[in-house]
Amino acid sequence: MLADALNVRVFASESEAAAACAALVAAAIREKPSLVLGLPTGRTPLNVYRELVALHRRGQVDFSRVTTFNLDEFLGLAPDDPSSYRAYMERHFFQHVNLAPERIHFFDGSAERAERECVRYDLELATAGGLDLLLLGIGPNGHVAFLEPGESLQAGSHRARLSRESRQAVASLFGDDVWKVPLAALTLGMAALIQARRVILLAFGVNKAAAVTAMVRGPITPVCPASFLQLHGNVEVWVDAEAGRGLDGSR
Ligand code: GLP
Repeated sequence: MLADALNVRVFASESEAAAACAALVAAAIREKPSLVLGLPTGRTPLNVYRELVALHRRGQVDFSRVTTFNLDEFLGLAPDDPSSYRAYMERHFFQHVNLAPERIHFFDGSAERAERECVRYDLELATAGGLDLLLLGIGPNGHVAFLEPGESLQAGSHRARLSRESRQAVASLFGDDVWKVPLAALTLGMAALIQARRVILLAFGVNKAAAVTAMVRGPITPVCPASFLQLHGNVEVWVDAEAGRGLDGSR
């Protein structure tokens, strides 16, 4: 029997996984108060943020020395645009915890020159020493951050064209109107993800099952960007039974 390159852990429910993930983040911060944390958006991490806020309110985690880098942002949206990922993070996490504003890092989707903005972001990440712990979601098409399926992947931060499928998936941030979803985003590149010292990827629900199976069992290919995580030595994939159902049995 061949072992999978990625460690998969199946949880009884999404809420159990979210609570365990928040507990893991809190423990990592207690061990290293100046932790550099990579953060995703989307529906998947919402319960993790809720749990982290609850832990913070109970005095069980102190974010005052933590540094954060979000994965991506829509091109053309200013940070205070209510549809931006920055605004999402403010609503669900930043405004409820004691992160120092100067240690919150985000792409500015409204930056005049996207290339220069990407260079700035990569430089800030390098100056911070890279990501200690990275939380990830996965798109139903196998994308991570906004590294979309294609013929190749880029190592550094870059401007990425969004697939129709991904635009559809985020339409709820834009009043359920897919035509209002920007055509492009700024995203970290694969290097930042591969170089993160520890990665927890969360996937819940049956619509993630095919992507999870391709990521864990499929070939390493830019057609499934998440499959490159097989090259990383320290990734855990946390799923519920539905997202993990393609992995039943050995390969
Ligand atoms: C989004 C984000 C990803 C996220 C993924 C899954 O578009 N760019 O970072 O992991 O798609 O989203 P969800 O958790 O809503 O399924």
